[in-house]
Amino acid sequence: MRHIHVIGIGAGNPDHASIQAVNAMQATDVFFSLDKGEQVAELTAVRTELCRRHLDGDYRWVDIADPPRDRSPDDYDAEVRRWHSARADAIGDAFRSELDDDGVGAFLVWGDPSLYDSTLRILDDLHERGAIEFTHDVIPGVTSISALAAAHRIPLHRIGESMIVTTGRRLARDGGWPSDVANAIVMLDGDCSFRHVDPTGIDIWWGAYLGTPHELLVSGPVAEVGAEIQRVRAEARVRHGWIMDIYLLRRDS
Ligand SMILES: C[S@@+](CC[C@H](N)C(=O)[O-])C[C@H]1O[C@@H](n2cnc3c(N)ncnc32)[C@H](O)[C@@H]1O
Repeated sequence: MRHIHVIGIGAGNPDHASIQAVNAMQATDVFFSLDKGEQVAELTAVRTELCRRHLDGDYRWVDIADPPRDRSPDDYDAEVRRWHSARADAIGDAFRSELDDDGVGAFLVWGDPSLYDSTLRILDDLHERGAIEFTHDVIPGVTSISALAAAHRIPLHRIGESMIVTTGRRLARDGGWPSDVANAIVMLDGDCSFRHVDPTGIDIWWGAYLGTPHELLVSGPVAEVGAEIQRVRAEARVRHGWIMDIYLLRRDS
């Protein structure tokens, strides 16, 4: 039976990869990639460095191209279903053509596969379709949340407090950060959505390019550092051509 490792490689620093991740990489015949978006070059650089450090060259890389997708269809749900199905077919075909019946494949996933990543959903989808048989396992990785907390040398919450993990788009909505939750970790935010939150009594710990040589950190009361973060973020995005950032917001107790 074909086997697939879904390996979390950490959030930017090749040193994040665990011994478990390296062992799984060394047991892999074919690495599959589903990358897209403006960060592809950075993802590729980290993966290439990991392979250079830990593998002896007896492996292959296979890029699986995303099937084309209509972004403004008349029937949105039907188009998403069609696209998911085409994507599952492309991955199934790649497993079939690139992996022996008892071969071992892997996806090297940025951060941890459980956090805002679609690889595990896609593999579940493939299992449900039953078009190809395979087993898979998951090797956890350092998340960008852990990288943020470590870079600022902070715990994510004060004693006994709760926190939410959310997206920039949800934070900007009414009720996106419930008033009884002291801490909010915000990811996938292309728009500095903390701008939509009343800054009174709120602190922010912001980080971009965490774990990479470009790492940027700003922290303080939102009322004081919010504008600086927007400026630093905009300049860095132009300078590098891409950006990944994450932040923790905390209400005064
Ligand atoms: C598609 S999600 C992937 C998250 C990843 N699976 C993880 O465990 O962190 C991408 C988002 O993660 C955050 N992120 C990932 N790596 C980052 C890094 N090195 N620095 C800052 N933010 C990062 C950003 O919020 C980015 O928009």
